[in-house]
Amino acid sequence: MASSDYVKEIERTRRHLRALISSKNCAPIMLRLAWHDAGTYDAKTKTGGPNGSIRNEVEYMHAANNGIKIAIDLCEEIKLKHPKITYADLYQLAGVVAVELTGGPTIDFAPGRKDSAVSPEEGRLPDANGDALHLRDVFYRMGLTDKDIVALSGGHTLGKAHRERSGFEGTWTKEPLKFDNSYFVEILKGDSGGLLKLPTDKALVKDPEFRKYVDIYAKDEEEFFRDYAVSHKKLSELGFVPPSAVKLALKKTVMAIGVAAAVVILSYFHEITYKHKSE
Ligand code: HEM
Repeated sequence: MASSDYVKEIERTRRHLRALISSKNCAPIMLRLAWHDAGTYDAKTKTGGPNGSIRNEVEYMHAANNGIKIAIDLCEEIKLKHPKITYADLYQLAGVVAVELTGGPTIDFAPGRKDSAVSPEEGRLPDANGDALHLRDVFYRMGLTDKDIVALSGGHTLGKAHRERSGFEGTWTKEPLKFDNSYFVEILKGDSGGLLKLPTDKALVKDPEFRKYVDIYAKDEEEFFRDYAVSHKKLSELGFVPPSAVKLALKKTVMAIGVAAAVVILSYFHEITYKHKSE
């Protein structure tokens, strides 16, 4: 497991993040930062992912990251107070806190991510003008599923698009600082709803497989919250095996070897006793 000192520092960092995010009302861009650091993961080459590399200028200058520097700089204030915490953990913790503070589900957070100085090439994050095929290309590359794609897209319940950053303008929901299932209710209204719909948001309504989940989440907020928490945790751990999981697997293997050895020894003694009696 991550050392107990580190875990304590994570809890102090979590409290500072809560204070910062609520005083600056910056939950949406913090969530976008966590997602953009993680969303570059490529399961085949095991490159990209939640490794803090978005702090490198080459990466935050990618077109898809326009505006993200604001969130990086806000996190830097926290990093200065908690230098031991890796950027990779800090950005993912900021995402988890952003969802929780705006009324979303509690997302389990496992610390221990390592920072990388290497940034992936440009073009791994989804293009908002893409269709269902494009979404699948990008998210399957990360090792995520159709259900993850729809649940995670519900993150657009928060925040807004800025014309000068992405070319799009407006909010997806009426209360962009409240994490709820209204994103799904709104995208089902189509263009008549008046709020923002990216081509990729529309693809979720049009594609029959995606649509199944959109319908469920629009009706049942609890189901959305449950699935969102699972998918968000997956996204935040792409390519990362929490040290605690490694230790647990090791413990199980050691125990299995122990049990196997005990069985061999017992059957050996049983054999000897049996032989001895029958002589
Ligand atoms: C499915 C593919 C996705 C596409 C194509 C996409 C695209 C976009 C675009 C174009 C913006 C507007 C940026 C701006 O102008 O400021 C945006 C904002 C945002 N995105 Fe996504 N996104 C996707 C998935 C996600 C996911 C998975 C999450 C989180 C789980 C997320 C969270 C956000 C948030 C919170 C904002 C608002 C940021 C702000 O208010 O400053 N997005 N996204």
